[in-house]
Amino acid sequence: MKHLLGIKDLPTSQIENILTTAREFKEVINRPIKKVPSLRDITIANVFFENSTRTRISFELAEKRLSADIVNFSASTSSVKKGETLLDTVNNILAMKVDMIVIRHSSVGAPHFLARHINASVVNAGDGTHEHPTQALLDAYSVWEKLGTIEGKKIALIGDILHSRVALSNIFVFQKLGAEVMVCGPPTLLPKHIEALGVKVTTKLHEALQWCDVANVLRIQLERQQIKYFPSLREYSLYYGINQAMLNQLDKEIVLMHPGPINRGVELSSDAADSPQAIILDQVENGVAVRMAVLYLLAEQR
Ligand code: CP
Repeated sequence: MKHLLGIKDLPTSQIENILTTAREFKEVINRPIKKVPSLRDITIANVFFENSTRTRISFELAEKRLSADIVNFSASTSSVKKGETLLDTVNNILAMKVDMIVIRHSSVGAPHFLARHINASVVNAGDGTHEHPTQALLDAYSVWEKLGTIEGKKIALIGDILHSRVALSNIFVFQKLGAEVMVCGPPTLLPKHIEALGVKVTTKLHEALQWCDVANVLRIQLERQQIKYFPSLREYSLYYGINQAMLNQLDKEIVLMHPGPINRGVELSSDAADSPQAIILDQVENGVAVRMAVLYLLAEQR
């Protein structure tokens, strides 16, 4: 594994290796001294062409906990604004003896393009509507930690499946680890032929909630929607918003997840988002351990 570009082509054995390595690092980050010297000879650049809170801070903390040297690049304050290309930008960063690039970009395939043109390792921190592999890995870790196993569990992805990179990476990771996956959303936000990926499909929220062990609720990605996919947020919330009263009416207690950022009052009410069933902040905590595992295993291959 020289790069982590997506889950689609990542062998199950490597996913399992990342999750078991993350378990070791979770123990490390809960010690009084949260740091190990594993990457002290490595320099990592976090190159973000899109906004981020969780992924960016989580990678930065993971790198610091592993004792790597880091530089943070934000497109909005860089010479990209003067017309510099992605490849020129990254090659200039690499000329300063950087070993790994963590990249988030709004264009599908940007990390794959870089991986073909540079020698450094590339980690995809989210490429457009395509994949978000470290989010899927931390989601899988969080389910594994909460339920003890992923094999045989039923995972429902609910919301804006069409524009979500988390959805595709989640489908791949949970299927590879032996779970069943269902997608649920309004017909306009379900990609055509999504059933070809081997997922169950429904437009009925109650059916998805009743079926699943875990509901991973995805954000309405208004910034990617050039046309209207539903009449109003109020109407979306009426048909696809999840609240605690709905969860209480189910036959069993399900686990509630969300990759963040949450549109409170749209896809999740506050009583559901903050309920004991929700593991949303555990996902964030686990993100650091999982990203430490990814960076550590990539550095091992150098
Ligand atoms: N889950 C996630 O990718 O969040 P950010 O956009 O804040 O990084």
